Amino acid sequence: MPTYDDALTLFHAWTKDDGLRRHGYAVEAAMAAYAQRFAQDEALWRMTGLLHDMDYERHPDPEEHPYVGVQTLRAQGYPPDLCDAILAHAPYTEAPRETLLAKTLFAVDELAGFITAVALVRPTRLEGMKVKSVTKKLKDKRFAAGVDREHLRAGAKALGPPLKVHIERVIAGMQAEADRLGLAAPA
Ligand SMILES: [Fe+2]
Ligand SMILES: [Fe+2]
Repeated sequence: MPTYDDALTLFHAWTKDDGLRRHGYAVEAAMAAYAQRFAQDEALWRMTGLLHDMDYERHPDPEEHPYVGVQTLRAQGYPPDLCDAILAHAPYTEAPRETLLAKTLFAVDELAGFITAVALVRPTRLEGMKVKSVTKKLKDKRFAAGVDREHLRAGAKALGPPLKVHIERVIAGMQAEADRLGLAAPA
């Protein structure tokens, strides 16, 4: 089975854009926080988050993303659970989300993107971010309009925790790796 370092090398080979790399790291950080909470295999959960959009830069079309990536991952011997979760992170694939891994990935992806957008308009970025900073912006339809609020709510609901608790956990996961996400408070 490929290691985390293999996954990182693959991710960097396919994804050159800084913003997309940071999105991968952000989702990875959120997955790591949930892996710890659920006592799951943290390396597997990290790799699933990191690689979920690995093909997006080359194949952003919904007819190709995430199918091309998943095909590549399966061919390279990545575990079926990881591949199935990545296939199911895009709602339009209509792939079932049966595992905790798949449910968690679906629940953190849009939210990590939204929290990133909120952090970028705060002077201290992720530092000191409260759940309220996020819920307020969720109600503002014009803010980060590309983030589908319904997807975000449905993801949290399927995973289980109340939305506010889920937001709190994802913020904490991202704060723990703020430097890597480019979202630490400026010096
Ligand atoms: Fe995606
Ligand atoms: Fe994503």
